[in-house]
Amino acid sequence: MCGIVGYAGHRPAIPVVVEELHRLEYRGYDSAGVACVQQGAFRVVRAQGKLSALEQLLSEQAPSTATTGMGHTRWATHGAPAVRNAHPHLSNDASLALVHNGIIENYLEIKKDLAARGYVFHSETDTEVLVNLIQECHRTEPDLRKAFARALSMAHGAYAVCLMSKDEPDAFYAARMSAPLILGVGTGENFVASDIPAFLPYTRKVVFLEDGEMVRVTSSSFAISRVQDLSPVDYRVETIEWDVQAAQKGGYRHFMLKEIFEQPKVLSDGMAGRLLEDAKGVRLPELDGLPVPSRLSIVACGTSAHAGMWGRHIIEALAEIPIQVEIASEYRYKEKLLFQPDEMVLVISQSGETADTLAALRRAKECGAKVLGLCNVVGSSIAREADCVLYTQAGPEISVASTKAMCSQMLVLTLMALYWGERKQIVSEATRAACIETLLSLPQILEKELPSMHAQAKVLARKYAQARNFFYLGRGHCYALALEGALKLKELSYIHAEGYAAGEMKHGPIALIDSAFPTFAICLADELLPKVKSNMVEVQARQGKVIAVTTPGVDLPADDLWIVPDVPSFMSGFIVLPVLQLFSYEMADYLGKDVDQPRNLAKSVTVE
Ligand code: M6R
Repeated sequence: MCGIVGYAGHRPAIPVVVEELHRLEYRGYDSAGVACVQQGAFRVVRAQGKLSALEQLLSEQAPSTATTGMGHTRWATHGAPAVRNAHPHLSNDASLALVHNGIIENYLEIKKDLAARGYVFHSETDTEVLVNLIQECHRTEPDLRKAFARALSMAHGAYAVCLMSKDEPDAFYAARMSAPLILGVGTGENFVASDIPAFLPYTRKVVFLEDGEMVRVTSSSFAISRVQDLSPVDYRVETIEWDVQAAQKGGYRHFMLKEIFEQPKVLSDGMAGRLLEDAKGVRLPELDGLPVPSRLSIVACGTSAHAGMWGRHIIEALAEIPIQVEIASEYRYKEKLLFQPDEMVLVISQSGETADTLAALRRAKECGAKVLGLCNVVGSSIAREADCVLYTQAGPEISVASTKAMCSQMLVLTLMALYWGERKQIVSEATRAACIETLLSLPQILEKELPSMHAQAKVLARKYAQARNFFYLGRGHCYALALEGALKLKELSYIHAEGYAAGEMKHGPIALIDSAFPTFAICLADELLPKVKSNMVEVQARQGKVIAVTTPGVDLPADDLWIVPDVPSFMSGFIVLPVLQLFSYEMADYLGKDVDQPRNLAKSVTVE
C-alpha cells in the first residue's frame, strides 16, 4: 500500500502535493517523492524515510513555479526502502515520470523484454518497469493516451498510477485496476489521490474511478475513458460529507475497524504474484534457493506468535515438517539452542522491530541456524537481518491491536505449507488445487460476510458487556484462534480473558465457571466437533453461558450461536479470525475504551 497524488491547478503544485501526501502518510512512510515539469524537463525530488526528509530536501532548493505535479509516499513491496526505489520513476529518455501504488505481477517478464531492447533499470521496482513500458509503447504510438492504455493492458496485477509527460507539463494521466484512486473536482484545479483526505481541504466533490478506467486531467478539465478501448465513461460527481479525520479512517470509526474490513484485500494482495497461472501451485521464489527445512522453530510474540501456532497445524499437515512454536522472550534466553541439519527458524513480526523477536533471531543465527523472516514492514530490522525474508504485503497497520497483519501472516504460512508440501511431493496436485481454490474464494466470502459479522458482534457485545472474565475455547488450529480471541478482548476492553485448548478445561480452569463467567467456543464442523461440544456441555452444566461460533446445520447447546460460512478445513481460520476481532472491537467500543490506542500498549515493542 502506498499513497499517490496528482494535482493540476492554479497554485504552486509541489507544496499542495506535499500537503496532500501528509494526509496519506498512514498509507506508507518509508520514502517519498514529488515530480513536476520545469523549463521543459522533469524535476524529481525523492527522499528515504518520512515526509519530513523530503520537505528538508525541497527547502534546500529554489521553489518550483509549476502548477501541475504529482507525489508518492511509499510502503515498499519491491525493493528496499531507498532513494533509488522511491517514486516518481523516470523513463530511460526522461520524457515520462510515474508514481504507482500496487503490484505489477508480470513485471519480471516485461523487464526482461525491455532489457533485451536496451532499457536500463536503476531500481528494483516494478514501477520503473512500467514507466519504461509506456515509453516503449509511446515510441510507436504518438498519442500518449493510447500508448499509456496499451502499456496498461500489458501489465497484470493491481495498480493505481499517475503519469506525467515533459511534453504536456500542464496535464497528468491516471488509471486504476484493483487499487483505490479518486478524482477530486475543484474550481480551476483538479486532483487524483489514493484516498479522499488528500484533497479534502480543497474540494468535497469527487468521482470514484472504477477498475479499468483512466483519466487525463488538467486544471480546467478531465476526461475519463476505459483502458480497454478508450471509450468515454459516464461518471457521477459525488459530494463527500466527512471531515479529514473521518476520511482518513475511510469513514470507519476507528483504524482497527477499517483494518478488519481490509482483510479481503489483504488476502488478494498477499496472493498476488504468488500463485501459478493454472492455480495449482504456489510460487515463493524467496525460498527456492534453500532446502526444505527438516524441522522448523517458529518464534514470535503476541498475535504473531498466535499466527505461528495456527500455521504449525497447516505446515505439519501439508508439508510434514515437525514444528515447534516458541515465544521469543523465552526462546532468546534458552539454555541451549539445539539444531539438527537443515533445521530452520522462522521469526514472525508485523513491525519487524520487536526487541525480543529480533534478539531471538540474532541468537538463532549465532547458534548456526538459518533464519527466515516473515514481516510486514519492508526494510525493518528483522527483514534485514534474516537470511531470507517473506513479506506479508498487508500495508501499514495503524491500530495497536494487530488484526489484518495476522490474517496476512496466516496466508503466507498457508502458502509456505503448500510450497514445501509440493517440493517434498507430499501434497497431491488435487489437494493443492483445492486449497488454492478455497484461498481464492476467501476475499469474496469475507467481503460479503463482514457487515453481518459486524452487526452480530454489536448485538453480542451489548449482551455480554457486564462480564469481567471470559474463556475462549478451541481445539486443533482453533486453539491458536482461541488464544488470539482472548488476547484481543483483554488488550482492547480490559476484560480478563483466557484462551484454552478446550480439552484442558477440566484440568483446572473449569473451577472458575459460574453464571457470570461466559465462554466463547469455536466449534466448527470438523472431526473435533463432538469433543468441543462435550466441553461446552460441561461449561453449561456449571451455569456458564456459551457463545459458539459454528457453521450452518451444526446442532450445539449454546446460549448464542454465531453462524459463519462453512469453509474447508484450516481455511475456516480466515473466517473465524474477524469474528473474534469484531467481538473484541465492539466490546471495547461499547465500553468506551480507546480502541486504536489501548492503555499501556505500544504498536511496536522495541524494548525488552
Ligand atoms: O510487530 P510484531 O508482530 O512483532 O508484534 C508482536 C506483538 O507485540 C503484537 O502482536 C501485539 O501482541 C499486538 N498488540 C496484538 O494485538
